Amino acid sequence: MPDVAVAATWLGHATILFDSPKGRRVIIDPWLDNPSCPSDCKDVGKIDLVLVTHGHSDHIEDAPALAKRTGATVIGNFEVCQWLGMKGVEKTSPMNKGGSQDQAGIRVSMVHALHSSSYDDAGSIVYLGEAGGYVLRFENGLSVYCAGDTALFGDMALIKDLYAPAIAFLPIGDLFTMGPEAAARAVDLLGVRQVVPIHYGTFPALTGTVDRFRRLVEPKGVRVLELKPGVKTEIRA
Ligand code: NI
Ligand code: MN
Repeated sequence: MPDVAVAATWLGHATILFDSPKGRRVIIDPWLDNPSCPSDCKDVGKIDLVLVTHGHSDHIEDAPALAKRTGATVIGNFEVCQWLGMKGVEKTSPMNKGGSQDQAGIRVSMVHALHSSSYDDAGSIVYLGEAGGYVLRFENGLSVYCAGDTALFGDMALIKDLYAPAIAFLPIGDLFTMGPEAAARAVDLLGVRQVVPIHYGTFPALTGTVDRFRRLVEPKGVRVLELKPGVKTEIRA
């Protein structure tokens, strides 16, 4: 196919919108009221696929409304999809770690994450299965790892072996996820040469910075793509 790139738009925190080479639109962990999301980006328009890494509100908050408005299919773990169904979402495609599925021409693989997953549903803590991450393989073959919220884990080396991602979206904010030091080790395990930091700067409590992360990985020849919220950026292998 012609050389049409994948475009990524970071909408702040862990919300990432991908435009695929064939015009499919995939949003991960939609939370559009996050403090970093520009006000003119909260209406994301057409969406084909919504991916949810886990049940925490800063990752799932807008999934029900977005799915209902756009008719998008939502992918999440079994419990997340059950819960979304109870919230009136009609099209879900549940999966679990280790599995892959093709949706809208994009290969979606669910991988491990080391984190928790629940939702405060009107005052009750609802368990929503295990947190996960995703590897997306777009129509042009580009493989992208979106880690979700996670600590560092050694089996990221297996994600490299199985899926060979060219680019990783990694949390660096610390406190609830990896900070810059652990994320730099993740870059080593994943073997990626390009990395997009996410899940930082949203609140003062997330203290990990891109500058710190850069100082750790750039000397190894790794390119840090510092996306500005709301700015669509082409990503390539
Ligand atoms: Ni979380
Ligand atoms: Mn989070």
